[in-house]
Amino acid sequence: MERVQIAEDLSFSRIVHGLWRLNEWEYSKEDTLSLIEHNLSQGITTFDHADIYGSYTCEGLFGNALELKPSLRNQMEIVTKCGIVLPSENRPEHRSHHYNTSKEHILKSVETSLHNLKTDYIDLLLIHRPDPFMDPKQVSEAFIELKQEGKVRHFGVSNFKDHQWDLLQSHLPFSLVTNQIELSAYHLENFEDGTLNRCQQHGIPPMAWSPLAGGKVFNGEDDKSVRLRDTLHQIKEQTGARSIDQIMYAWLLQHPSKIMPIVGSGKKERIDRAVESLELSLSHDQWFEILQSSMGHDVP
Ligand SMILES: NC(=O)c1ccc[n+]([C@@H]2O[C@H](COP(=O)([O-])OP(=O)(O)OC[C@H]3O[C@@H](n4cnc5c(N)ncnc54)[C@H](OP(=O)(O)O)[C@@H]3O)[C@@H](O)[C@H]2O)c1
Repeated sequence: MERVQIAEDLSFSRIVHGLWRLNEWEYSKEDTLSLIEHNLSQGITTFDHADIYGSYTCEGLFGNALELKPSLRNQMEIVTKCGIVLPSENRPEHRSHHYNTSKEHILKSVETSLHNLKTDYIDLLLIHRPDPFMDPKQVSEAFIELKQEGKVRHFGVSNFKDHQWDLLQSHLPFSLVTNQIELSAYHLENFEDGTLNRCQQHGIPPMAWSPLAGGKVFNGEDDKSVRLRDTLHQIKEQTGARSIDQIMYAWLLQHPSKIMPIVGSGKKERIDRAVESLELSLSHDQWFEILQSSMGHDVP
């Protein structure tokens, strides 16, 4: 599996596995361990979490599986996020849905993530969403402390626009290493508004969340889903791909910005198809055909 250099001392697998939906899969600890080992055998070593996934349960489900075989920890990279506060029966003290990027909240959130994931360190911590109340000095103090204590190796952001990235970066003594953004043939906003260009300009490999538009392309009945599905099926036939998800992954992988798709399926065969898509080649015409099908019109 191709590796992407995220920082001097950290690389990720080009295909990342996302654990947002882990609690929905109803896997036993052993099933989850089997999935982790399957991914590692395919070269997928990078696992994406957030404190809030599964209403604060997914990190723990992963950690319980990892505890069965702790030696796997040094074969993987763990990404997690903080900054969103959700009301949840697992967090009765949370009264409302809001963002909190205070130093105190970040430090507390990381302690809980380390405990739940059954690990001593997180490879990459992301601020989950831009916080309109963010004090970059507090975020910076938290990041510096976490790095000095060896609890977090590197830091990044998610869903940030350029000005939000610049504000935080200007207060940090080290570089943010990625922006995890929504990117798919269905969701073009970050292709169109300069967010992806900014990553390219600074040589920052972006992580792509919901690379299959959360599954919408398979069964969505809106015009865009129907149109895109039809085009993806035509190109699947032309390329001999096994399924349209492979075309969607290939469409992201071929972009020159070194996008790392985060696979959201819990099914081994679907994860394998994502890995196979690294071998798939779309022509330049096909790439634009998909873009134009998503836009609903030709490029100007
Ligand atoms: N930073 C952020 O704000 C943010 C936001 C959202 C997500 N994320 C990250 O991105 C990861 C991926 O997001 P995602 O789960 O939305 O990814 P996705 O791959 O776009 O969507 C996954 C969904 O599509 C379904 N699916 C996949 N292949 C299918 C097929 N051939 N036919 C029908 N359905 C199919 C999956 O069902 P099965 O499980 O049944 O295969 C699953 O429900 C998450 O796990 C999380 O780590 C980050």
